[in-house]
Amino acid sequence: MRFKNKIVVVTGASSGIGEQTCLDFAKRGADIVLLARSTSRMEAISKKIRENYQTHTLVIQCDVSKKVQVLSMSKKVFDEFDHVDILVNNAGFAIFGSVKDLSIEEMEEQIKTNLFGAIYCTKAFLPSMLTRKRGHIVNIASVAGSIGVPGFASYCASKFGMVGFSQSLYHELKGTGIGVTVVSPITVKTNFFNHPSFQKIKLNYIPPGLSATHVSNAVLRAANSKRLEMIVPFYVRGAVWLIQTLPYLLNPIIGIVFRKHMNNLEKTDNQV
Ligand SMILES: NC(=O)c1ccc[n+]([C@@H]2O[C@H](COP(=O)([O-])OP(=O)(O)OC[C@H]3O[C@@H](n4cnc5c(N)ncnc54)[C@H](OP(=O)(O)O)[C@@H]3O)[C@@H](O)[C@H]2O)c1
Repeated sequence: MRFKNKIVVVTGASSGIGEQTCLDFAKRGADIVLLARSTSRMEAISKKIRENYQTHTLVIQCDVSKKVQVLSMSKKVFDEFDHVDILVNNAGFAIFGSVKDLSIEEMEEQIKTNLFGAIYCTKAFLPSMLTRKRGHIVNIASVAGSIGVPGFASYCASKFGMVGFSQSLYHELKGTGIGVTVVSPITVKTNFFNHPSFQKIKLNYIPPGLSATHVSNAVLRAANSKRLEMIVPFYVRGAVWLIQTLPYLLNPIIGIVFRKHMNNLEKTDNQV
């Protein structure tokens, strides 16, 4: 698919992977709908797009975890454009902490944003794609959608959910002209780790991140791909395959390594 004059909706467009994805689609001539909660950040990105690439942009403030806001956002999109070619469900965040320590609300918020946000947006734009018999939905999951790690239970639940939802949808839409591809990155250098809950994690716990551009390149490839999932970088697929193929051997090792770190964090907390 060439992207010139295509209409691309990106959730979580105000920062990180979403911001870079908007810029990279616009660079190839696409019109961009930017969605997030921080309007000022999106306005600045929109201005940059219009000045550098002369494509159309539409900024809509939308909390994707709220289905009423998603519905009203989609009406605004269809007031401006008569269809959507590509939907990138990217909005998401994580709160680090064990299940015993996180509140139910903190867990709900992650799953509502990361998983239900993508479901609401898919429900909003899929009917028009089906009518036109074309379109592509790109869902940003994570390697945490294949491996459950201590300290990220609700985040992992949202991303496992995202992978399962996408896989079912992929099969349902086969032959309709609409593609579904999940992009699952390992860690990425963005504002993602600025959440206060990450402050106590030592940097060596988090592997060095990819650039947002690296992931955005994968998103653009995904929008043209027949594949269900693209793990970024590609060689991490080997690790995921190993863990899923030898779970009895590798899951205990993952558990030991991450648990040891969490226990150390708890000890440090108790000493403070
Ligand atoms: N960074 C990583 O290491 C990493 C690794 C794997 C997967 N991912 C996934 O990549 C995606 C993008 O994350 P990022 O790394 O680019 O982080 P980021 O820089 O923090 O960007 C997150 C984006 O999501 C938006 N967002 C958060 N809650 C929202 C809500 N309720 N409604 C609408 N928008 C919301 C934020 O905008 P507002 O705050 O303005 O609403 C922001 O634009 C997420 O789904 C994340 O899970 C990240």
